[in-house]
Amino acid sequence: MSAETDPVKLMKQQVGYAAAQRVQSGSIVGLGTGSTTAYAIQAIGERLQSGDLKDVKGVPTSFQAIVLARQYGIPLVSLDEIDKIDVAIDGADEVDPQKNLIKGGGAAHTQEKIVDCLADQFIVVVDSGKLVDHLGSTFLLPVEVLPMAVTPVMNAIRKLGGSPELRMGVKKAGPVVTDNGNLVVDVKYDRIDNPKELEQTLNNIPGVLENGIFAGVVDVVLIGEVKDGQPIV
Ligand code: 5RP
Repeated sequence: MSAETDPVKLMKQQVGYAAAQRVQSGSIVGLGTGSTTAYAIQAIGERLQSGDLKDVKGVPTSFQAIVLARQYGIPLVSLDEIDKIDVAIDGADEVDPQKNLIKGGGAAHTQEKIVDCLADQFIVVVDSGKLVDHLGSTFLLPVEVLPMAVTPVMNAIRKLGGSPELRMGVKKAGPVVTDNGNLVVDVKYDRIDNPKELEQTLNNIPGVLENGIFAGVVDVVLIGEVKDGQPIV
């Protein structure tokens, strides 16, 4: 893997690489979604090709993860074929001091939550810009919604104090459609004080598939930083 020159990409590359080094031969690995995890998938594939790692299988969290795993030669399995996931590696959009997350910047949080929560060890890989004092500081909270329910869900979210907006695609030509065929509503909160409670409350709205709060499920956070031009993890 050749080193990135852009500092943020370099942080993502280093932290993705560090997570890939934690994967052991014979393990089932949850493969997350996003630009940071993409480096981990590449590094796992390169370890497999070099013989440093053997008999690893991946469980993808998105179409993007499927494409990358195929590109880098990682055999894939579905949740129907396995008893457990040993380790999952995934990115995040915000991480608070209690290791709670906001995810879903790539609209993949529903499948990500299923896979990440099944893993014996869930490793989050982020650059240092993702660290926040409390969730909701920098990123809107993504909520995946069944298309026919988008209006009542947005009304319910407003009643609960959030400001929802439908996520639009490139050039606003139409809404973003998830890998599961649903829509994404991004919700602004002044402050998320109780992530666990909000995660459960939003998921109780009929028509909501899943929201991007991952509260109390992370085992390890690997943080990429650049100091004096040098990457550290
Ligand atoms: C996708 C996600 C991603 O993991 C999250 O958006 C972080 O992405 P990146 O590593 O590109 O910053 O939750 O749904």
